[in-house]
Amino acid sequence: MSSEEKADALEDYLSQHLDAEVEEQQAAAGNAASAPARFPTVAELEAQVETRNWRRGAGGLFVAGMRGEGGNVKRLEPMPAKPTLLDFFKLRFAPANHVLQSATRAMNTGMPEEIIFACLMHDVVQALIKPDHGWWGAQLLEPYVSPKVVFAIRYHQALRFYADTSVGYEYPDLYWRIWGSDYVPPPYIEATYKYVRKNKWYMEPRLVTVNDLYAFDPKAKVSIDPFMDIAGRQFKQPKEGLGYDNSPVAHMWRTVASPDSPL
Ligand SMILES: [Fe+2]
Ligand SMILES: [Fe+2]
Repeated sequence: MSSEEKADALEDYLSQHLDAEVEEQQAAAGNAASAPARFPTVAELEAQVETRNWRRGAGGLFVAGMRGEGGNVKRLEPMPAKPTLLDFFKLRFAPANHVLQSATRAMNTGMPEEIIFACLMHDVVQALIKPDHGWWGAQLLEPYVSPKVVFAIRYHQALRFYADTSVGYEYPDLYWRIWGSDYVPPPYIEATYKYVRKNKWYMEPRLVTVNDLYAFDPKAKVSIDPFMDIAGRQFKQPKEGLGYDNSPVAHMWRTVASPDSPL
């Protein structure tokens, strides 16, 4: 064989080998959907841990360059003495594109006000921390919102791993990429899914997942303004300011307000 023929043969062999490997992964995954070949495996993602100087669970406010843009963290604008939810949105959660797009989609498709608000708030806690963000996010809001909004936010995280074709929700491509093509959710997520599936409020977190799209439109112009009235009705703003009302979660708001505090 010429060297070119050898290279072609090698390429054929590798691509067949890759196909076989992907089929094996899909069989192992046990998920209803099947992962396209281009996504990494759980083992490949694990192998990346020691290639970073940050952990994947670090809140967005605490790390620069998580998306590869590099550089240092930025100086944050000071918060007012009695910060409101809007101040947090503008000064700490911004640009908050993903949640604004989710809420915009919920609004444009005529969903109930509580769902629109849950969509607006469903991932904001990721400024603080990412693992178990459904539970953290629900806790952050619990003193100020209705039990339905809390339920929707707490459980959207687990439902993201399970398709529901009756409402057009499929296992997201993004999850093949970030969790690995052969990822199987841990037993506590599976148990949570089963619990929520049977709950009378199942549709609350499910509708959050329906609006939880990452490829909605990267150029879409979104703003908090259309949601101000809804936020006013759905969120009980403490008169002392978020972080200073002595609620069980006030310290969480203070940490978001002051992520440069050394202790
Ligand atoms: Fe989420
Ligand atoms: Fe989300």
